[in-house]
Amino acid sequence: MDWKSLTFSYTKTNTMLCTYFRNGAWTPVESRTDDTIALSAFAGALHYSIECFEGLKAFRGKDGKVRLFRPEENAMRLRRSAEFLGIEAPSVEMFVEMCKQVVKENLDFLPPYESRASLYLRPTLIGFNPQLGVASSSETMFMVLCSPVGAYTGGNLEPINCVIARNYDRAAPNGTGSHKVGGNYACSLRSLNIAHSQGYKAVLYLDPSTKKMIDEFNSSNFFAIKGNSYITPLSDTILPSITNKSLEDAASYLGMTVERRQIPVEELSTFEEVGECGTAVVITPVSHLDDKPTLESEEVTRYTYVEEGCGPKSQRLYDFITNIQYGEIEDPFGWTVEVEL
Ligand code: PLP
Ligand code: COI
Repeated sequence: MDWKSLTFSYTKTNTMLCTYFRNGAWTPVESRTDDTIALSAFAGALHYSIECFEGLKAFRGKDGKVRLFRPEENAMRLRRSAEFLGIEAPSVEMFVEMCKQVVKENLDFLPPYESRASLYLRPTLIGFNPQLGVASSSETMFMVLCSPVGAYTGGNLEPINCVIARNYDRAAPNGTGSHKVGGNYACSLRSLNIAHSQGYKAVLYLDPSTKKMIDEFNSSNFFAIKGNSYITPLSDTILPSITNKSLEDAASYLGMTVERRQIPVEELSTFEEVGECGTAVVITPVSHLDDKPTLESEEVTRYTYVEEGCGPKSQRLYDFITNIQYGEIEDPFGWTVEVEL
């Protein structure tokens, strides 16, 4: 494989794992080389979006060890999403074991340390039984899929341009915004497609209730740097990002002040650095952020953060997190879980 040219796209690997919850228990985990699945055309996942998923990465370290980054957090978030959907989810232990197993079965696809790429794991839980009425599915299928990946957009730490979608929402007040359900991504597609057609790489949403505060990007959380502060939105319509939570801890550890609070749009002009954070995007700096009355409008207010490269504080946080992930420095928080080979 040409590891250096990997992007965030799907590559077929050796195996995927799956198990079904039926009659009150999980079936033995199956390892399949075929990445197609058979399910009833009436499965709840297909009609009523009874689906939730996770994203986490496995890294080949400098010392040759293989590490997962905070898999228990993903397991707990999947259980929370499943609870919202009213469906059965695997235990934390089962989730983590399956993640380890899929990595071991797909070591051929785990990028080498030097590539700074990783193996992305996509645990996915779907409503499986045929149904016509709207109800939580009684049977679920849990899969752990994987694919080697590089940077989500461009190259590592390459800045991107973004736009605020004032006239679109990815989440409703009191809805699914803080859960990792597929429907949230469906909701983001219209605005994302318009933004892409205008040359933007990502969309930033405002809080859906008042449209006055910053919420998050279509596939990542928002953070900003002002002076010595790491600032990130407090909102119940955003996904509780495991990367963001880790960056908050990293920022404190590195002597920065952490502010988790509402961020009015007007504050954008006061930030020195702005970035996306998440598993797929890691830290991706924002070069400029455009605010328009509507996404379709020609009128633009532009906030510029970097022309090229990455701001110094974002870079420091990026280095800290990725150095832990690739086993280059001690992990003072015990975030990584080794996959014993
Ligand atoms: N927000 C959204 C909408 C996402 O899709 C993701 C990706 O998982 C994140 C934030 C970042 O979350 P995490 O850091 O747990 O990957
Ligand atoms: C992740 O960062 O793991 C995500 O799930 C984002 C994804 C929608 C690409």
